[in-house]
Amino acid sequence: MKKIEEYVRSIPDFPEPGIIFRDITSVLQDADGLQLAIDSMIKLLDGVDFDVVAGTESRGFIFGVPIAYEMHKPFVPVRKKGKLPCETISQSYDLEYGQATIEMHKDSIKPGQKVVLVDDLIATGGTIEAAIKLVEQLGGEVVKVIFLMELAGLKGRERLKGYDVASVITYEGK
Ligand code: PRP
Ligand code: MG
Repeated sequence: MKKIEEYVRSIPDFPEPGIIFRDITSVLQDADGLQLAIDSMIKLLDGVDFDVVAGTESRGFIFGVPIAYEMHKPFVPVRKKGKLPCETISQSYDLEYGQATIEMHKDSIKPGQKVVLVDDLIATGGTIEAAIKLVEQLGGEVVKVIFLMELAGLKGRERLKGYDVASVITYEGK
């Protein structure tokens, strides 16, 4: 059986020179790769007691929804600015390249709910740190943060001290 890293395609110098882009489309477009990715992320939740899965637009949706479905939990989308129709809270953050704002509906998490945050990748950690702030502002407790891939060289984990963070694959570089 192939390992998950064998399904990830690495593209040098995308979107900028010096960046190696870790492409998940090659994982998703293979039935075995997709199943292995979701199953491997679900394993990271062994023994974790939680109420809600929240995922960050857009690649966090791809992985977050099947995990929530499989574990029979609700899914809450953390969306890019301007997409959610009801009352929202928002948080801005710096990306590896550029700036962005994400939002959540105010009623999407109830105070005291235990939340698992899901994304495909942690690079600088800016996106997930912003998502954590939103969940906490709504009174949620972030009990676990999971990724398919981690770029350890960008030290995103250092921003998440005190949180339980796990990734299926770790790349030592950036
Ligand atoms: C990518 C990736 C993570 C984030 C990781 O999303 O899917 O969400 O960047 O980077 P960070 O740890 O430095 O914040 P992107 O903003 O490119 O958008 P997408 O998911 O819509 O493709
Ligand atoms: Mg993303």
